[in-house]
Amino acid sequence: MNVAMVGGGFMGKAHAIAYAAMPMYFWPAPAIPVRATLVEATNERAADAAQQLGFAHWSSDWRSVIDDPQIDVVDIVTPNDLHEEMVIAAAQAGKHIICEKPLSLNASSARRMLEAAEAAGITHATAFNFRRIPAVVFARQLIDEGAIGDVLDFRGTYLQDWSADPTFPATWRFDKSRAGSGAIGDIGSHVIDFARYLVGEVRQVHAVSSTYIPERPDPESPAGALLRVDVDDWASIQLEFETGQRGSIEVSRLAHGRNNLLGFEVHGTRGTLVFDYEHRDQLKVALADDGARMSGFRTINTGPAHPYGHALWPGPALGNGYAESKIIECFEFFTALTEGRPADPSFVDGYRTAAIVDAIIASTEARAWVEVDSS
Ligand SMILES: NC(=O)c1ccc[n+]([C@@H]2O[C@H](COP(=O)([O-])OP(=O)(O)OC[C@H]3O[C@@H](n4cnc5c(N)ncnc54)[C@H](O)[C@@H]3O)[C@@H](O)[C@H]2O)c1
Repeated sequence: MNVAMVGGGFMGKAHAIAYAAMPMYFWPAPAIPVRATLVEATNERAADAAQQLGFAHWSSDWRSVIDDPQIDVVDIVTPNDLHEEMVIAAAQAGKHIICEKPLSLNASSARRMLEAAEAAGITHATAFNFRRIPAVVFARQLIDEGAIGDVLDFRGTYLQDWSADPTFPATWRFDKSRAGSGAIGDIGSHVIDFARYLVGEVRQVHAVSSTYIPERPDPESPAGALLRVDVDDWASIQLEFETGQRGSIEVSRLAHGRNNLLGFEVHGTRGTLVFDYEHRDQLKVALADDGARMSGFRTINTGPAHPYGHALWPGPALGNGYAESKIIECFEFFTALTEGRPADPSFVDGYRTAAIVDAIIASTEARAWVEVDSS
């Protein structure tokens, strides 16, 4: 199936690796993704990225791939403000779509994207790749099997430090009009996706946030002019799920030493599950049935006995990285597409997460609990 990828930055590299490698892991593959056309912002960048990432053709006009009858799948890996227009045009042209998270700048935009995709009857996916990590899927299996009893609460974090230095430039991620929000939507959306995947829908939220570094150097200014930052650096969020359970999430892009602490704990009446992306092959499990003498966590290294293990490496702890999460995502997308069923996670998940992000931001402004509106 011919893929056109729009954007050739960080995610462009990750998705291109997945297209190339997916059949090498999942064989027989549901489809062979062909890296057909790469679109970038300029001709020079497009030609260079196409060569680097193995695409046969390149363009600096994203509409050219929407109009190309040879293209089956459009993959959108551009900054967040560009997703909506591209998605709606691609859907109306009947292309199947993978779009990076957050699906868009806010829930009303994400809703328009979902409606366009549903009206077109195409396969649509939001790239919440972390929920496909074997240890995370294993956690969901254990919850579904009742291994930790009834879920009491969820505790999630996504702490990073890449922008802790105040001289880190004001790239698009610090501009509300291009990103939608800061840490809340950028990295918090992954934790919200974990919460929804592992526990269920969120009914209401209460949140506080801070912007600790209100100005950053303009990357376009050789004189070092400063630009105002209008998104959050940090937030602390309380959740109430529709089923009544509670939870909390903390997100930061300024937490020195926390390079990529994406994690969760799920506490149940009979046990606890702990996941930490920096040790992403592992799930820590504590079970009440172990008794007082053996009380504590066992560390399970995922391997062939766990989700997707047959397609990954022949023994536990050989190591799955970021690329494998994208390869599994790619496998799931093409499996759904070829089987004619909805992808999981789809734009529905992108939209519902966007609605939770909107409610979080509204709560920081209102200093009150805010109901999630994802009707
Ligand atoms: N799932 C994940 O783990 C994950 C991780 C990082 C980023 N993301 C998401 O992926 C998306 C892209 O993020 P990134 O880190 O790759 O950003 P990036 O800045 O590294 O890359 C974006 C690319 O899009 C290109 N671009 C801009 N305008 C364009 C246009 N009109 N046509 C074609 N290309 C254009 C830019 O030149 C740039 O190369 C964002 O939505 C982000 O939130 C997801």
